[in-house]
Amino acid sequence: MTEIKKVAVIGAGVMGAGIAAHVANAGVPVLLLDIVPKDAADRDIVAKSAVEKMLKTDPAPFMSKAAARLVETGNVEDHLGKLKDCDLIIEAIIERLDLKQALYDKIEAVRKDGSFVSSNTSTIPLAKLIEGRPARFQRDFLITHFFNPPRYMRLLEIVAGAATSKDAVATVARFCDEKLGKSVVHCKDRPGFIANRLGVYWLQASVLEAMDRGITVEEADKIIAKPMGVPKSGVFGLLDLVGLDLMPHVQKSLEGALPKDDPVQALMRPAPLIEKMIKDGYTGRKGKGGFYRVNRTKGKIKEAIDLKTGEYRAEQKADIAALADGGAKSLKKLLTHDSEHGRYAAAVLLPTLSYAAFLIGDAADDVDSIDEAMRLGYNWKSGPFELIDDIGSDTLISWLEKEKRPVPAFLAKANGKTFYRVENGQRQMLGADGAYHDIKRPDGVLMLADLKLKSKPIMKNGSAALWDLGDGVACFEFATKMNAIDPDIFALMHKAIGHVAKSMKAMVIYNEASNFSAGANLALAAFAGNIAAWGQIDSLVTGGQQTYKALKYAPFPTVGAPSGLALGGGCEVLMHCSAVQAHAETYVGLVEVGVGLIPGWGGCKELLARWNEYGRLPKGPVPPTAKAFEIISTATVAKSAAEAKELLYFRPGDGITMNRYRLLADAKAKALALVANYAPPKPALYTLPGPSGKAALGMAVEGFHRLGKATDYDLVVSEALADVLTGGETEPYLALEEDQVLKLEAKAFMGLVRKQGTHARIEHILSTGKPLRN
Ligand code: NAI
Repeated sequence: MTEIKKVAVIGAGVMGAGIAAHVANAGVPVLLLDIVPKDAADRDIVAKSAVEKMLKTDPAPFMSKAAARLVETGNVEDHLGKLKDCDLIIEAIIERLDLKQALYDKIEAVRKDGSFVSSNTSTIPLAKLIEGRPARFQRDFLITHFFNPPRYMRLLEIVAGAATSKDAVATVARFCDEKLGKSVVHCKDRPGFIANRLGVYWLQASVLEAMDRGITVEEADKIIAKPMGVPKSGVFGLLDLVGLDLMPHVQKSLEGALPKDDPVQALMRPAPLIEKMIKDGYTGRKGKGGFYRVNRTKGKIKEAIDLKTGEYRAEQKADIAALADGGAKSLKKLLTHDSEHGRYAAAVLLPTLSYAAFLIGDAADDVDSIDEAMRLGYNWKSGPFELIDDIGSDTLISWLEKEKRPVPAFLAKANGKTFYRVENGQRQMLGADGAYHDIKRPDGVLMLADLKLKSKPIMKNGSAALWDLGDGVACFEFATKMNAIDPDIFALMHKAIGHVAKSMKAMVIYNEASNFSAGANLALAAFAGNIAAWGQIDSLVTGGQQTYKALKYAPFPTVGAPSGLALGGGCEVLMHCSAVQAHAETYVGLVEVGVGLIPGWGGCKELLARWNEYGRLPKGPVPPTAKAFEIISTATVAKSAAEAKELLYFRPGDGITMNRYRLLADAKAKALALVANYAPPKPALYTLPGPSGKAALGMAVEGFHRLGKATDYDLVVSEALADVLTGGETEPYLALEEDQVLKLEAKAFMGLVRKQGTHARIEHILSTGKPLRN
């Protein structure tokens, strides 16, 4: 199988530039080409400016500045010859068949044998794209449909033609899965593939039914949201986000490309209000506003559009009895609620679910592909077939019959059966043939969710569990809200360390929640603070220190495997593992100062040790201290695993896994690789700069304070932090032992936790979710 070592992306627009950045994120060099604008002084200006713009975009398309250096820019007039070095050429130019085909002819003339070409088209069928092209091109060509933004959207739809070789599909799919971290869904060569076709149906149904039934945008966004497992922005909120003007394009192309009897056609009627909004520049957040807007003429008033009159009015609170009567918890209750809102919910969701069943055999082969496309393409919590299982396929069928709507053949087959089931610990899905088939995970994918279907934990308590991953590797799982760290986690971790030391080889710390850990359980700390239970807080601090130390010096290798947020105590636990294998999208930081505290579970000590060992800083105790101070005092959060390595939250040798599904298997492999001749680390000695170092840090912070960049209370917190990182009153240059630094951490922490300023910060974050700048 060809290995894809170099990629070209042609078209440096929204998608092409984002795809190129993401290829670079994977550590793969990429050539990004676009046209030469008329009379341009710099002929590469389009591609170059695209990269420059991306470096300033937030959320960032690049995972690190180093990744940006892997993008080489150029133009399609002078640099097509460079395609001969590329193994994969991704076309992402404007959506015009003639221009795409003309470009393919030029690509075909220069690309090497064994290379592949793909298009990012969202609407043009593959059969049309390859029409009239030579056999070699047809064999090596496929569609790779990325979603916007390419770094963050995990879905990738792949379409192969009848002539596309198996090797092309397998090589490109593997690259997109393992290197780019995408969840690859194979689609048939049908307009809109899966996600956009079903997504447009759902969006159109939501909008048109709301307009027809006199439902307000606020009501719709309460109903077509959390109760259905849809993100809380709802449908109108989502349209504001992606831009109202995008819809008519996708709609028009689907309308033209799909047969007249396709169920989506019934929803292709014009919506004059939306047409007018687009015409007047109300295209959503990027325009003057959308279904919602902030009116600044009379202060800052949030408004929503009245779908009947087209006039903006103050945002209204949606009062929905269907949700209060149990619909918020039970989808079936919502859909059958005898009210306009219940009927609206049913009129949107049930036809959408029915359309999903219609797509089996037409757009996709199996239910899992459609569910994955909607989960990852639209951030639905459950896919449509999981939702049907929730309400019952027979309920859906009887509703369709009552409404005199056709029942898709595949749905009729399921009547009374579920689309998914678990048989002997194995997840299965109902196939188009009416029989159940195992859902197979690709090689190199290991999921705790699967393991839970067939085994019981080795041990557990209310906050954590220990699982057996096989081959002597245990998996320690946090199981609290936001995976916040509490004393029960510490208690189980001690027991787990004892168990693994006695009868297993290694331990991985991993969970499958969206966030690895949001840090210490602040509510617990706030509660203890409120009742002045200082002893309790003190034992929480020392308990954490002892647990993490036990983890660090365990006689077996430990591997932390985070994804999503790993903050505060969640970051500290990783810093005490023998190694980390992180999902690329991990956001790590010692953010304690945000709540008026300092890292008290060994975070200060570990960051100091790392900057000392790997920092490539000038010699002496001051530089590592200054660096750790800079990072912790500003609560710097790494916005990717790559950035976490730059900040030394992770070590240079720690691993990064691009595909979320592959994280656990990679972490397990890393742990096993460390088993032979494993010895716990030797305790470090800490040479710290003492009082003069502390004075220097204090002066720096005062400078920030004068400039208004540090608040009054920042001064207090920084001083406590400086005490720890400089060794406080310690004789300068005297080497401290690890326990002495831990004592300094605990002392600084306990000092701060009693202060009113810290108390105010904690209360504020707990009640508003936002930091207080006191
Ligand atoms: P865009 O309009 O932002 O960028 C297109 C780029 O292609 C421009 O920079 C243009 O100068 C360049 N270009 C045009 N003709 C060219 C040629 N002959 N050679 C080289 N460069 C040329 O478009 P966008 O949104 O990035 O779309 C690109 C493709 O991706 C389209 O096929 C679109 O359907 C598809 N797509 C778009 C998505 C989106 O959300 N925008 C999502 C998924 C797919």
